[in-house]
Amino acid sequence: MYRTHTCGELRPAHIGQTVTLAGWVHRQRDHGGVTFIDLRDRTGLVQVVGDPNLPEVSAIQDARNEWVLQVTGMVRPRPAGAENPNLVTGAIEVAVQKCVVLNPAKPLPLAVNTDETVDENIRLKYRYLDLRRERMYNNIVLRHNVVKFIRDYLSERGFLEIETPMLFKTTPEGARDYLVPSRLQPGTFYALPQSPQQLKQLLMVAGFDRYYQIARCLRDEDLRGDRQPEFTQLDLEMSFVERDDVLAVGEGLFTAMVQEILPGKRLLASPWPRMTYTESMERYGNDKPDLRFGMELHNLSDILAASEFMVFQNVLKNGGVIKCIVAPGCADYTRKEVDELTTFSKEQGAKGLATLALTAEGVKGTAQKFIKPAEVEAIQTRTGAQTSDLVLFIADSKPVANKTLSALRLLFRDRLNLADPNVLAFAWVLDFPMFEYNEEDKKWDAAHHPFTMPKMEDLPKFETDPSQILSDAYDMVLNGYETASGSIRIHRSDIQQKVFQLLGLKDEEIQSKFGHMIEAFQFGAPPHGGMAPGIDRLIMLFAGEPNIREVIAFPKNQAGRDVMADAPSPASEKQLRELHIKLDLPEEK
Ligand code: AMO
Ligand code: AMP
Repeated sequence: MYRTHTCGELRPAHIGQTVTLAGWVHRQRDHGGVTFIDLRDRTGLVQVVGDPNLPEVSAIQDARNEWVLQVTGMVRPRPAGAENPNLVTGAIEVAVQKCVVLNPAKPLPLAVNTDETVDENIRLKYRYLDLRRERMYNNIVLRHNVVKFIRDYLSERGFLEIETPMLFKTTPEGARDYLVPSRLQPGTFYALPQSPQQLKQLLMVAGFDRYYQIARCLRDEDLRGDRQPEFTQLDLEMSFVERDDVLAVGEGLFTAMVQEILPGKRLLASPWPRMTYTESMERYGNDKPDLRFGMELHNLSDILAASEFMVFQNVLKNGGVIKCIVAPGCADYTRKEVDELTTFSKEQGAKGLATLALTAEGVKGTAQKFIKPAEVEAIQTRTGAQTSDLVLFIADSKPVANKTLSALRLLFRDRLNLADPNVLAFAWVLDFPMFEYNEEDKKWDAAHHPFTMPKMEDLPKFETDPSQILSDAYDMVLNGYETASGSIRIHRSDIQQKVFQLLGLKDEEIQSKFGHMIEAFQFGAPPHGGMAPGIDRLIMLFAGEPNIREVIAFPKNQAGRDVMADAPSPASEKQLRELHIKLDLPEEK
């Protein structure tokens, strides 16, 4: 038996007992010929004290950080004044009678007993050491707790957890597929699933009614802080439901979760706010609003319709908009600070930034000379801007104005600490457009995915104006992130055909890519819908981490590499031969 107790469980109640512990040397120091070690295992730290002059204990004096020890000793109270109130085991210590070195350790490339920042490349290369750090350990435990909560909650509500294959066929979620060559059928490839989308719909055709899975999804896409090439979804699907039935499951699940396993967090609002995609774009400039603070966008096109400012006139004449946000208390911004904001706005695609500073001494700012007092008054009435505030204007096409002001809004959120980190502002964004026009390829793309149900009343617009077709798609947003997407699905093969056709898929293509879906829908498919919350993003937000790599045990770096195992890496000649693959690599520059 390696141990009788764990380090973190010892308390004054154990005083007088002889215990055996096993763990890592978290810290060690010598004091008057006696060795003090904080011994660590998963459960925590405990102080062990050994006199190296005793033969059975002598090994203790060699121990260095991260050595693995087994110690046997008597639990005793710490001497008066030596207690450590910051440690749950801080009232006691273990007087070592025997110490065995289970394994020594080389000096570590990163310190695990501090929370100092370490270069991320080193952390990822030695991830198994990085994971010894308390913060990472806590994130992984949180992840376990979240997933366990999900499983319990959904099982209790009649959902079945069903696994679906990793070796499958392309599932269109808008990214590139990872391909796996088939050895048995040379020249053919599996695609790793971008999500279990098709399979979960087929499970509905099979009659399972309520399905979920903690599903790994694989997408070959450009990485950002909130994206990984493989990530995890809570994938779920339900039959005989309408949109609100699906939303009720998501809202119920995460509301209960926050209450039960996230004691430091509170919900902004219950029931969660709902808004349409259009409303979200108007008020926040994006489809994943951070609702923890105000600073909403305002459209001033009507107020400034008669403006003499040429820039404003031209933008309005060309069908653009003039929108603004109000930065509270920023009227005293210097010229330099405003210039920085202008540069930032241009990086977002805007042509410029105009400002009005409402100072106690009167109206100032770059737009002051163009905006008449009556217009200033109307702007104040509409936006609520007060003395000491700074109004920021962008005149441009609606998408550029929205994008720029949305980015400015988030910049001020961070700069002025407007968002409470302990608040979880869940919300639903509804009624997304069904299609987006792809200017580059001159074709329509599915805004969500091609299995999403268009709004019935919009079906005639397939022939007239596809840009105006709304869909029964919805997103769950949290603190400025899209944390889930879902939709009611098409269960009629005629509508599915119509969608594929508008997306420009030829009949043969539809048949070869999605023939199994079209066929399945002809054998009695129930109306169904579902959604997929992204587990990594949710845990990132619950843990207050800046990116999802911090909540994934073994993530890829920003370039998509596993720097610990050094993957991807070349395949051997033999492997390639078996797969009938010949490499045709670009010349090295
Ligand atoms: P979607 O593609 O929107 O929908 O993905 C759903 C959620 O998964 C998370 N997510 C990611 N997380 C980390 N890294 C990524 N690369 C990544 N991509 C997506 C996000 C996102 O909201 N089959 C549909 C769902 C459905 O319709 O039921 C789907 O996959 O949190
Ligand atoms: P200009 O007349 O181009 O020197 O611009 C006068 C002010 O208006 C400057 O502060 C510009 O940054 C700002 N400005 C220029 N174009 C825009 C625009 N499209 N939207 C908002 N402000 C702008």
